[in-house]
Amino acid sequence: MPPGTDVEELRALARSLACEAGDLVRHGRPARVEVAATKSTAVDPVTAMDRASEELLRARLAAERPDDAILGEEGDDVPGTSGLTWVLDPIDGTVNYLYGVASYAVSVAVVAGPPDPERWIALAGCVHSVVDGRTWTAARGGGAERDGIPLRASGPASLAESLVGTGFGYSATRRQRQAEVLLRVLPRVRDIRRLGAAAIDLCLVGEGALDLYYERGLNPWDLAAGGLVAAEAGAWVGGLHGRAAGGAMTVAGAAPVVTELVRLLEEADADGDEAPEVGAGA
Ligand code: IPD
Repeated sequence: MPPGTDVEELRALARSLACEAGDLVRHGRPARVEVAATKSTAVDPVTAMDRASEELLRARLAAERPDDAILGEEGDDVPGTSGLTWVLDPIDGTVNYLYGVASYAVSVAVVAGPPDPERWIALAGCVHSVVDGRTWTAARGGGAERDGIPLRASGPASLAESLVGTGFGYSATRRQRQAEVLLRVLPRVRDIRRLGAAAIDLCLVGEGALDLYYERGLNPWDLAAGGLVAAEAGAWVGGLHGRAAGGAMTVAGAAPVVTELVRLLEEADADGDEAPEVGAGA
């Protein structure tokens, strides 16, 4: 981490940015949300609010942290000179926002090193749940909290008693594989939740409202802040076969059951090769 970095100051800024963008998303949601464009596939939407929220975050960062880089879901990467990168998800859970399902969030994190989840060092982050205002923050070495209450991840004694969150990608080929993996996981656990916003799922692991979470295909902005919240709450956050958490696989949960889930996912080859995409995009 660059000398002189104050992770608590970064946490406070992440919180202020995420809450300000959250206010915009909350108050600016029209009765009927339109899809402005699609991204990776025809079912991966972008709304005008995704763009407006990210523009607000970028403008605030340009004013307050002009030397830092930016990696955001909806815009071009901004290079920096400080060694720090802000990783922005202006609405995580865009499909929920589109339909009016209550689980969507603004996620803001700042990382040191390369802007790649398998190699970066996450320093601070905030996930702000737009509809109900729940706000999770974390600072590296400084713990995680929700609305001022410190978090401690905990889990049941066995995989069979574990409530497991997961999510699915936007490509048909990936979903086919994810469904096959789910066939192996579902009979072994208490139940599955697919809530639709990875950043919130990871925070729920941090506070024990989900025992475990796994997903293949997360983007850096889905994972940055929520992954730090879960880790600072004491959860194990990683990938399969000794890799760090990232696009290939992200698993989170408290020991010892998280180790059982990792083993099950490795047996199911959950991060293995996928068939080439047919029809819809990647
Ligand atoms: C998506 C959500 C979803 C997860 C997808 C993500 P987006 O993010 O986090 O829960 O399953 O993998 O892409 O597209 O709403 O920002």
